Amino acid sequence: MAAAASATLLKSSSVIDKCEWVKGQSLRQASAAFVRCHPTSPSALTVRASSYADELVKTAKTIASPGRGILAMDESNATCGKRLASIGLENTEANRQAYRTLLVSAPGLGEYISGAILFEETLYQSTTDGKKMVDVLVEQNIVPGIKVDKGLVPLPGSNNESWCQGLDGLSSRTASYYQQGARFAKWRTVVSIPNGPSALAVKEAAWGLARYAAISQDSGLVPIVEPEILLDGDHGIDRTFEVAQKVWAEVFFYLAENNVMFEGILLKPSMVTPGAESKDKATPQQVADYTLKLLHRRIPPAVPGIMFLSGGQSEVEATLNLNAMNQSPNPWHVSFSYARALQNTCLKTWGGRPENVKAAQDTLLFRAKANSLAQLGKYTGEGESEEAKKGMFVKGYVY
Ligand code: 13P
Repeated sequence: MAAAASATLLKSSSVIDKCEWVKGQSLRQASAAFVRCHPTSPSALTVRASSYADELVKTAKTIASPGRGILAMDESNATCGKRLASIGLENTEANRQAYRTLLVSAPGLGEYISGAILFEETLYQSTTDGKKMVDVLVEQNIVPGIKVDKGLVPLPGSNNESWCQGLDGLSSRTASYYQQGARFAKWRTVVSIPNGPSALAVKEAAWGLARYAAISQDSGLVPIVEPEILLDGDHGIDRTFEVAQKVWAEVFFYLAENNVMFEGILLKPSMVTPGAESKDKATPQQVADYTLKLLHRRIPPAVPGIMFLSGGQSEVEATLNLNAMNQSPNPWHVSFSYARALQNTCLKTWGGRPENVKAAQDTLLFRAKANSLAQLGKYTGEGESEEAKKGMFVKGYVY
């Protein structure tokens, strides 16, 4: 009965039924299958075999496809309110819907964008012309994703650091998001260099990401693993490298301990750069050298895609850095999952005016194409505006 009811729900979107990355997949039980090895041995291991394994691999590969990356449009209502306020608009559901409709319906967006991360409101929302946002994305050949974390709160016992909430009740939410058409998930936690980072904060961040990743895979969602090492601070690039090595070592330790299947995850790291308030500035070549060195030391080649966040870099800077990382072949697909570095000039061009929708969509397509070229290592920096060169770092930024 329960399986039949879920099957009906899954079929609620004929667009999703037809999409490439779902073909050949049938409805599975929500719970994972467990295989006990050496049952008589006192040190018996429990090996988890997710019933969604093939689908997870397929989804991850689709998102990590050549010349494409992720549009992060999952700002919480509070953050979206800040964006709308910057162009003089009120933070109403109608204004958020109008803006997100503009983004998802930019013609031909799927040529450059393989996945879009949505906030829960958007996952269940329709466009201003009454189509499901999710269906518009699928028609554009873009995989819908969902932000599942519940944001950051102070971490007691630490050095004024934070931890990420959202594990309670997560498995029922991820099951519903799958039924609604999401095929991947995002959980963003942060690590602050000026505040430590303390061993406690790093461990908590890594453990939370690993629990979330296991739960998401169990519901058929590819988890994006995002421990953002904040740009805040006046430290040099070597210090960022040192902290990033520690953080990724712990993240992979706990991912393995939670039996997460590495072929069915995506990573969303920060690039290795000097702190935003450092006197040193790094060239794209230096950022690429440090970041690739970090990835080679810490990330197994089984992971299909590395989708960077922009973290306050300017649009052009984020694209140049990505391009520098793709000048020779990498073991993983090295790409983007930008929010600010894809949306900033688009939002300003729109300004909340219906007559500017086309120009704003053109701006989004221009940025998406620039990053698509950077994913292929072919970006030249031609035709960039002054606006796109402006940094977006905000001290103590909360997403
Ligand atoms: P930025 O690219 O603006 O840093 O956003 C990152 C993010 O996590 C959005 O999903």
